[in-house]
Amino acid sequence: MSTAVMSRTVSRRWWWFLWGLVAVLALVTAALFVPPYLVGGTTVPNLDRITPGYYTSLVIHAVPAGVALVTGPWQFVPKLRTRYPRLHRVTGRVYLVSVIVASIAAVYSSAVTKSGFALQVAFFVLIVAWLYTAAKAYLTIRRREVQLHRIWMIRNYTLTFAAVTLRLYQLPLLALMDSVDWLEYKEVYTVSAWLSLLGNVLVAEYFIVHRFLAQGRRQGPVPTG
Ligand code: HEM
Repeated sequence: MSTAVMSRTVSRRWWWFLWGLVAVLALVTAALFVPPYLVGGTTVPNLDRITPGYYTSLVIHAVPAGVALVTGPWQFVPKLRTRYPRLHRVTGRVYLVSVIVASIAAVYSSAVTKSGFALQVAFFVLIVAWLYTAAKAYLTIRRREVQLHRIWMIRNYTLTFAAVTLRLYQLPLLALMDSVDWLEYKEVYTVSAWLSLLGNVLVAEYFIVHRFLAQGRRQGPVPTG
């Protein structure tokens, strides 16, 4: 086997590993955090029941957001896309409608949350970016611009995946709260939200540049728009 073929096999295995990790983390996050909102939220600690409509907005947000989180990874599997193009289109529509509904509900949750201004800004940036990238992904595929559609879907799903990374960043920070007196949950939540937003955007852009420029070097011009 030549060195080029070997390095392509290693890189393919590496991307499969990463994809599997993303799919498992997405599934685990949705399975842990969404169901409590389907059964009245009684098991959610310190849930704000006083602000009118807050709980309802969380339900309308969390359920479709969970659907987007779980369906997203399958849309990137090349074999599924080529073998079952109709399934890809239907799942894609379900995914995009889920993102739109979850974003609209999140506008209300973000506006009334008691978690502070810095967190509200992070959520509003996420909502705008989530809707904008979803619109670009849809418009590009309507124009049959497949490469651009892929790029915008990578950007969009990376934002969806912020729900996972936010909760991962919270784990060490929550542990730190035991030993750092002045550290409060509100700060842990805010820092995790900003880290997940900025971190995920950086990873997505790195992946896009790395993957599509490398492909461009092999195949010719890279798409713009
Ligand atoms: C990426 C765009 C997203 C935005 C802008 C967003 C925004 C929000 C906002 C504003 C809240 C209320 C927080 C508060 O009041 O302090 C919230 C809570 C929640 N979100 Fe999202 N969210 C997003 C993605 C997701 C995804 C993909 C899931 C899938 C699991 C999800 C699941 C939840 C759940 C379960 C809650 C309730 C709080 C909890 O139990 O952790 N969100 N989200």
